[in-house]
Amino acid sequence: MKQNILITGGAGFIGSHVVRLFVKSYPNKRIYNLDKLTYAGNLENLKDIQNEANYTFIKGDICNSQLVMSLFEKYHIDTVIHLAAESHVDRSIINPMDFIQTNIVGTVTLLNAAKHYWKDAYEGKLFYHISTDEVYGSLGETGYFTETTPYDPRSPYSASKASSDHLVRAYYHTYKLPIIISNCSNNYGPYQFPEKLIPLMINNIKNMKPLPVYGKGENVRDWLYVEDHAQAIQLLFEKGKIGETYNIGGENEWRNIDLVRKLCQLMDKKLNRPAGSSEQLITFVKDRAGHDLRYAIDCSKIKNELGWKQSVNFEQGLELTVDWYLQNEQWLNNVITGEYESYYEKQYILR
Ligand code: NAD
Ligand code: DAU
Repeated sequence: MKQNILITGGAGFIGSHVVRLFVKSYPNKRIYNLDKLTYAGNLENLKDIQNEANYTFIKGDICNSQLVMSLFEKYHIDTVIHLAAESHVDRSIINPMDFIQTNIVGTVTLLNAAKHYWKDAYEGKLFYHISTDEVYGSLGETGYFTETTPYDPRSPYSASKASSDHLVRAYYHTYKLPIIISNCSNNYGPYQFPEKLIPLMINNIKNMKPLPVYGKGENVRDWLYVEDHAQAIQLLFEKGKIGETYNIGGENEWRNIDLVRKLCQLMDKKLNRPAGSSEQLITFVKDRAGHDLRYAIDCSKIKNELGWKQSVNFEQGLELTVDWYLQNEQWLNNVITGEYESYYEKQYILR
């Protein structure tokens, strides 16, 4: 069983790494990638595997119930790995409704299709929902999020993800739908859209543009290399316990300002610039509304129960990431035109 796998949001950042890993790992399983190709979706992310025999791309919206139902019927879907989402906190502050629609309505649309098509034969089926540590709220200077930390989302994005988590659990308790949820910390790596901190800074350093650090740069995030997240997702697909939640994290906390300085130093070396030159671009700007102070994940459950661990340390991961963006100039140039320019202006210049 678990032969026909529907991955949603597979043309996005994390989704493309998951699709690639699954297509390569399971030549005898069929991988169906359903993605609406919003501004964040990009088929260039999957160019290397697009012609593989076990891979099919479907352009479409997870909120389209008729389409989702037809995919379950046509392809005998027995597994859903659900990543499709509106994922950027700043955009959720500008326009919450897209987040409510995709993250909540879209998730319920998928849950309903799974419930309908799997009916009473739940054996060998899996609805795996990918979520975020942001559902737990904001930490002070100490402490960690565990799987039992009460939910306390504080942005429209995290509230929409928390709602979707609650609905997935509700379908488990009410209908016995076989679900797993994982909540992960901040990912970084190749193919991340340059609205997020690390690729935005890489792009701006490269182009000698101001580096907009929100507030005083004292907010803390726990960074995980994206391929380590994809490996954790594969492990949970294979060995996760139905009905359970697993936290995934980098155990790698950085204050934003320290991280941006580290990137500046690394890029000065890579670009043969005098030491200290990129740091001069750092500009402190108006803080994000409701900016969560600190996220930090306790991931001992997935480590102790399933043997997962991070394989890429931050030094290696940042270098791999910077090298990738510098070597893939065309990818970067393609995504920073059009929609990105108007978003950038709204977020950083007009406010
Ligand atoms: P992303 O924004 O890079 O990609 C999202 C993808 O979903 C895009 O390809 C987009 O086209 C697609 N999509 C959006 N709306 C859709 C819809 N209505 N129908 C079909 N497809 C749609 O996001 P990401 O950073 O790769 O995050 C993927 C998932 O992981 C999200 O659920 C996010 O909440 C979660 N997550 C992200 C991080 C992180 O650091 N990026 C950390 C933890 C959890
Ligand atoms: O924790 C997991 C979450 O991580 C995911 O669920 C989200 O999808 C993902 O976007 C990410 O959310 P963050 O808000 O933490 O990531 P972002 O890269 O937007 O910001 C990281 C930190 O950097 C945050 O404290 C805000 C700050 N920041 C961000 C940007 C884009 C800046 O100081 N300047 C910026 O220009």
